Amino acid sequence: MKNKTITRKITQGMYVLTTIGGGCIVDSVSQISAGENPLIAVSVMKENYTNQLLSKNSRFILSVLGLDVDFEIIKVFGMNSMRDINKFELIKTNDIDGISVVNDSLGYMECEIIDSIENDTHTLFIGKLIEADVFLDEEAMSYNYYQKHKDELIKIDTENKKTAWICNVCGYIYYGDVLPDDFVCPKCFVSSDNFTKQEIKK
Ligand SMILES: Cc1cc2nc3c(=O)[nH]c(=O)nc-3n(C[C@H](O)[C@H](O)[C@H](O)COP(=O)(O)O)c2cc1C
Repeated sequence: MKNKTITRKITQGMYVLTTIGGGCIVDSVSQISAGENPLIAVSVMKENYTNQLLSKNSRFILSVLGLDVDFEIIKVFGMNSMRDINKFELIKTNDIDGISVVNDSLGYMECEIIDSIENDTHTLFIGKLIEADVFLDEEAMSYNYYQKHKDELIKIDTENKKTAWICNVCGYIYYGDVLPDDFVCPKCFVSSDNFTKQEIKK
């Protein structure tokens, strides 16, 4: 490919995807049809605990994140797994039809899963919109905005003053002073050029 970075020009937003029992940050969301109950597709890594939950559940909710969202929400939902922490104890949510919606969001879309398509690493879940609401009519955060501002806004705690390297694609964090050139993200399998270095002073 001559220059794959052109794919970064695809406009994507920032969402908390939840289902019963868990949730994670996603940017790969697209409305793929119109009408009263449009179809919404979301791509979820197979490594994510949320993927396992979605294969057992029939519904998901997308909470839409605004420009001024507390970055702690992105850190908790996007850089941690529900396998290790209870995200709902750390971030305020409200229960809507049995699924958690993030309080600090612009609104939500509730979808019923009608189909899914798999490749090696991801499952594309296709949902039919069955409920939606707007809490705040403000500007939504784009994935590009997140990429531009994450260094100043996300503070990663680390032990022994090690350097944190954050995967730009999935939020995976590698701790170590040097990121090996041949390092491949164990979660989303992108190469080391997709990592951003964050020096930590504690
Ligand atoms: C900015 C950002 C965008 C992300 N986009 C996606 C995405 O579109 N799909 C996905 O499966 N994971 C995405 N992730 C990664 C998951 O949110 C992350 O792996 C999370 O820790 C999974 O949690 P879980 O194991 O509890 O499901 C993104 C993370 C960040 C920080």
